[in-house]
Amino acid sequence: MTTTATATGPAGAATTATFTADPGTDRVLTGDRPTGPLHLGHYFGTLRNRVRLQEQGVEMFVVVADYQVITDRDVADRLAEHTEDLVLDYLAAGLDPDRATIFAHSAVPALNQLLLPFLSLVSVAELNRNPTVKEEIAHSRQSAVNGLMFTYPVHQAADILFCKANLVPVGQDQLPHLEVARTVARRFNERYPNSGGEPVFPQPRALLSDAPLLLGTDGGKMSKSRGNSVALGATEDETARIVRAARTDADRRISYDPAARPEVSGLVLLAALCQDRAPEEIAAEIGDGGAAALKRTVTDSVNECLRPLRARRAELAADRAHLRRVLRDGAERANAIADATLAEVRSVMGSV
Ligand code: TRP
Repeated sequence: MTTTATATGPAGAATTATFTADPGTDRVLTGDRPTGPLHLGHYFGTLRNRVRLQEQGVEMFVVVADYQVITDRDVADRLAEHTEDLVLDYLAAGLDPDRATIFAHSAVPALNQLLLPFLSLVSVAELNRNPTVKEEIAHSRQSAVNGLMFTYPVHQAADILFCKANLVPVGQDQLPHLEVARTVARRFNERYPNSGGEPVFPQPRALLSDAPLLLGTDGGKMSKSRGNSVALGATEDETARIVRAARTDADRRISYDPAARPEVSGLVLLAALCQDRAPEEIAAEIGDGGAAALKRTVTDSVNECLRPLRARRAELAADRAHLRRVLRDGAERANAIADATLAEVRSVMGSV
């Protein structure tokens, strides 16, 4: 298999439409915060890509970013439960723990230690202008912004670089963080040349979904904490209830026009993604049926699309010990790699 990425954008991003990974040279890392169940935005934005890459035979790491939870809140609520639930969603979506290394980053000390030299490679001004961090501060439930909020993108660079990953399947909102990881890798390599010749770190690139961005049922950014999304593990009735409450508009004629009608178009797009068809086609089919018909189509499409995933999820949910075992095995593998990378970092820095 060959690397045929052509569509490079910000942060050297490629989209899956043009991308085939090379199992011989590519290594994938991606991850999520354990703050609650994953939803449809995660599924179409990145989960599907991860499974696709796994099926291409690429080595894959998936980090449960537990330290990132406390960027915008004081305590990480029900952390163990959310961590296991995340693993549950991963496995239900098709990640295979025998092929993918799934681990919590707090369980890998050497990974976290990379944060110290990495922080010295970025300026305070750079940390200050990260647009994703700014957006998160705007939605934060804290009155004061803590230091981790500004520095976690550098920590995320450590998540990516500890295993020398060069491909990072993520949603659009993560592009500024990928830029930080690329900057850290480049500056580290420049400042600490490896006498062996090969630079220590690769330049990681984002791998974006070719699906357009899904909006939440309120027309805003889809988010676990904003109650505007359908969780992968939701029941069919819960799914119907969330879709029924979605915001629409007064025009009975359904069309796909994201700029003029973001709410209606978001629902049309969701049905289209679930059915793997063009949104214009879905809209034409509903025609003058109005919001009620649109919502029925969306509910049925989501429930049908997720049925196999939900069935697997229910089976896996019965064995919590298995989920913990997956995390333990993953941490063991990740620790071996992180220890080796940290040793290399300390050596090129002359800190032995
Ligand atoms: N910041 C990501 C999010 O909020 C989660 C994350 C942590 C991540 N470490 C990562 C994503 C490394 C990709 C690579 O969803």
